[in-house]
Amino acid sequence: MNTVYSSIKGLGFYVPDTIVTNDDLTQYMDTSDAWIQERTGIKQRRFFTYGKETNASMAAAASRQALDRAGLVPKDVELIVYATLSPDYYFPGSAFLMQRELELEGIAVIDIRQQCSGFVYGLSIADQFIKTGMYKTVLVVGSEIQSTLMDKTTEGRNVAVIFGDGAGAAVVQATTDPEHRILSTHLHADGRYAEELYLKDPGSSRPDHFITADTATAGGSSVVMNGNAVFKHAVVRFMEVINEGLTANGYQATDLSLLVPHQANIRISGYIQQQMNLPDEKVFNNIQKYGNTTAASIPIALTEAYEQGRIQSGDLVCLAAFGSGFTWASALIKW
Ligand code: UT7
Repeated sequence: MNTVYSSIKGLGFYVPDTIVTNDDLTQYMDTSDAWIQERTGIKQRRFFTYGKETNASMAAAASRQALDRAGLVPKDVELIVYATLSPDYYFPGSAFLMQRELELEGIAVIDIRQQCSGFVYGLSIADQFIKTGMYKTVLVVGSEIQSTLMDKTTEGRNVAVIFGDGAGAAVVQATTDPEHRILSTHLHADGRYAEELYLKDPGSSRPDHFITADTATAGGSSVVMNGNAVFKHAVVRFMEVINEGLTANGYQATDLSLLVPHQANIRISGYIQQQMNLPDEKVFNNIQKYGNTTAASIPIALTEAYEQGRIQSGDLVCLAAFGSGFTWASALIKW
């Protein structure tokens, strides 16, 4: 019997039309285009329009594109793995809403909460379900509406200038071709640092009902980040988890065709590139256009890289992420 593997058959993404430049943000807070570009690399990001987009509708749009490019239709999907930190509802998760939108009632859905590593975790879940033979076609999505989660005053500027909205999706399918497949995935987490980057409310950590007039004004409903701590852990963990993937498959950095890192900060990507001695053409960045879209960042970047011809059949592609939790993860793919 042939061994079953999984491979990415189609990619898609959706970003809202509304472009918010760094200069636009200076209306709300004390910041500058120069500061944001120098410290993060970001020039602009997209913000959703209420009434036009939802977290699930953006994910559905990205998924339709991915399915179309895979030559498939929604009815081919057997499982949805949905990564987001900004769901439409507290519960049920946005996977249910996207399933409804794609008219896929009855199929399994899994909502996961792994923040910036969500897409890579999702890919790993898809890979495991496919390798066991339980499913043949899995849709993995990352979607975020983060523009409503941020304090857009000067007090929240270290967070508010970074994050953006958008969605990306990948169709993962069973294959028996050992030359074109997901080689391995590597997942990690360390909850000791949960509060270094988190959103407290609404949650059950309050003494009374989880949303009251007091909790609404207690400052827990905006993302809080210790940027320096996140940065320092990120550079170490990114390197570790990329090397873990390469070593597990007998490769070295020089074998890589393309590294698609989670788009957290151009300085983080730059540090990894330098440490691994990779030329510019082997590292993909698009944070300049979209900011940090958390779970959507890797599938958006991967789709753009593919569209630009930066990924060819047979290429060795590494996806790597680090984020809130802390979580970090990588996937090594023979395209
Ligand atoms: O997605 C995964 C999770 N997130 C990340 O990976 C983000 C990791 N962290 C970072 O990217 C960086 O820490 C930031 C971009 C968030 C901040 O950059 P930084 O170089 O670490 O700046 P800082 O927090 O050390 O702040 C330096 C100065 C401070 O002023 P003082 O105290 O030196 O006077 C801040 O108040 O910059 C000030 N500052 C700003 N100034 C203008 C902080 N944010 C802003 C801002 N505009 N938006």
